[in-house]
Amino acid sequence: MGRSAAVILAAGKGTRMGSQVHKQYLTLLGRPMLYYAIKAFEASTIDDIILVTGQGETGYCKKEIVDRYCFTKVSAVCEGGKERYHSVYEGLKAASDCEYVLIHDGARPCITSEVIEGALKGAMKYKACVVGMPVKDTIKISDEDDYAEMTPDRNRLWQIQTPQAFEYELVYNAYKKLLSSEAFQEGITDDAMVVETMTREKVKLIRGDYTNIKVTTPEDMEIAGVLLNRIYTGK
Ligand code: CTP
Ligand code: MG
Repeated sequence: MGRSAAVILAAGKGTRMGSQVHKQYLTLLGRPMLYYAIKAFEASTIDDIILVTGQGETGYCKKEIVDRYCFTKVSAVCEGGKERYHSVYEGLKAASDCEYVLIHDGARPCITSEVIEGALKGAMKYKACVVGMPVKDTIKISDEDDYAEMTPDRNRLWQIQTPQAFEYELVYNAYKKLLSSEAFQEGITDDAMVVETMTREKVKLIRGDYTNIKVTTPEDMEIAGVLLNRIYTGK
């Protein structure tokens, strides 16, 4: 089996969190949020970790997170870009020497090794796979005036998480193509969309975990604290 890498994204500004420091550095159980995603990949069978940080934050991340917590799998720390897909592309370029790559949001600290290994196996089997969970709520699509226009069949709706896992060449070439044409970049919110739009490969959805939340707004911090306590202390 070829090498596998994880690209962990931490170049966002955390606008919806509304905090002074970017949300990935906020403290959860005494450690920066970003620590937990790196910790989970460090403990997995993934070979290398590429950390993508905000402009001017690579030194801080190397010193205060990678060195401080003695992470040994972090082979590169690089700066991201304006949109998430710019950051992913920077991470993919730094990951070059691998057969499989998992792309993960640094803002999902409650990721477990089970979900990571499942995603890696999925990449090997399907070439392109993303973790998600069936939605629990009814989802409606509104018209421009917020009247309900359509209610899609809930049995076929998934809420998509990360990791999103791919054969490296497939996802790298898809991103390269995306970045070469602004016309394609509108409304891209995840990696699966890039592969769906830029290649003929189908993306398999596999089950992640409802606990693998993305910390987006302040109340998510409380929930993440409870979940991390359970994952790391069994309480
Ligand atoms: N991200 C990134 N580069 C960007 C934008 C986002 O690396 N230009 C990362 C974030 O750091 C996060 C993940 O992508 O780990 C998911 O993004 P999101 O939850 O939207 O985080 P932010 O963009 O930071 O938050 P917001 O949208 O509220 O500003
Ligand atoms: Mg964002």
